[in-house]
Amino acid sequence: MQQTKILLDEADIPTHWYNVVADMPNPPAPPLGPDGKPIGPDALSAIFPMSLIEQEVSSQRWIEIPEKVREIYQLWRPSPLFRAHRLEAVLGTPAKIYYKNEGVSPAGSHKPNTAVAQAYYNAEAGIKRIATETGAGQWGSSMALAGQMFGLEVRVYMVKVSYHQKPYRRSMMQTWGAEVFASPSMETHTGRAALAADPDNPGSLGLAISEAVEDAASRTDTNYALGSVLNHVLLHQTIIGQEAQKQFAKVGDYPDMIFAPCGGGSNFGGVAFPFFADKAAGKNVRLVAVEPDSCPTLTRGHYAYDFGDTAKLTPLMLMYTLGHDFMPPGIHAGGLRYHGDSALVSQLYHEKRVEAVAVPQLATFQAGVTFARAEGIIPAPESNHAIAACIDEALRCKESGEAKTLFFNLSGHGHFDMGAYDSYFSGRLEDFAYPEEAIKAALDRLPKVG
Ligand SMILES: Cc1ncc(COP(=O)(O)O)c(C=O)c1O
Repeated sequence: MQQTKILLDEADIPTHWYNVVADMPNPPAPPLGPDGKPIGPDALSAIFPMSLIEQEVSSQRWIEIPEKVREIYQLWRPSPLFRAHRLEAVLGTPAKIYYKNEGVSPAGSHKPNTAVAQAYYNAEAGIKRIATETGAGQWGSSMALAGQMFGLEVRVYMVKVSYHQKPYRRSMMQTWGAEVFASPSMETHTGRAALAADPDNPGSLGLAISEAVEDAASRTDTNYALGSVLNHVLLHQTIIGQEAQKQFAKVGDYPDMIFAPCGGGSNFGGVAFPFFADKAAGKNVRLVAVEPDSCPTLTRGHYAYDFGDTAKLTPLMLMYTLGHDFMPPGIHAGGLRYHGDSALVSQLYHEKRVEAVAVPQLATFQAGVTFARAEGIIPAPESNHAIAACIDEALRCKESGEAKTLFFNLSGHGHFDMGAYDSYFSGRLEDFAYPEEAIKAALDRLPKVG
């Protein structure tokens, strides 16, 4: 019998997070303050606990995972690695396809891997309340879950379109005890100003981040938590790639190419960075971030210092960006609609050490449906991006006869995204490539640095 699931024991849950900075040939560019000068840890202490700030600037290769965090990981980790025999057969490809299923977490995606860690460090620091934002609802529900586990109150600013598109994500957050507001909201200066300018403002991740940061900065009992982009978030996600390395070793295989959907970069970094360490040590593995055509941050954005949010409350980061005032088109992969990208992923991409591709929306749903019909699992629209890129490669292998080993991260299930699938089946879903003029225009609005 062929093996389908490659499983690890709870004792195999990694004991340390892996910090890619230790293996990067060039040190990361520092975040800058409003004066254009590098910021020190103190600038972040109004909204983050010192333990996370230390991780943010650390270049130490391994950082120990606290026991209490590992205990919570045990609820769903190690996540299974699957060999997609049935998908391979449907495609008729000689390639071997593997995927790791992060959809087995209680919130349904990879996001709790960092939410749990962030809740732990905030609770340790005596913080009582977390303010955060959510786009599609995956991050908000993960933070709600993690807050509940460590006795923290959680306030979520949810991008208004998603708030209405995904009422059950909202109920999920409420089940885990969080309060949820549609963003822009009347709860913050930023939200009120946005609503005064346009009462029908549909919201964006950049705007919701501004609301959450403002909330956190205005209260001493409250900190802010971000679900992607920052170095410590990517660090926490590296348990995905580390587990996958053990799982591949168990079956005596190793990926030639790894695909992951890329929004702010934590899912890509989480699965790819441990393999980057292998690459730095001489292994030949290609790491491919997959993004939507409609929000092509890495493939068509500018590599420049920019704000992480619309109201310019965050430090400036050197990253690929479409401009902090980017208003995303209403595509269904809500988790991939962020204007920027992780500074670490951006730098590695800029230095051509990792790759990126952009795929159109319809192709991603077509790939997701092919996958669901073969393997059974209904993927999140974000995950469909990685599946589409992986299937494209598997079909190239069919042409060339190459038996490559392909691996993608199934970052989440799509059970709360059936509305998106509905639109696809009824022909209401469209492709939307982000216009070149809009990308050029964003360049003029980037902050001038140096
Ligand atoms: C299921 C799923 N996959 C991928 C992503 C993108 O993740 P990241 O921002 O870490 O790149 C998200 C973000 O919300 C998501 O919900």
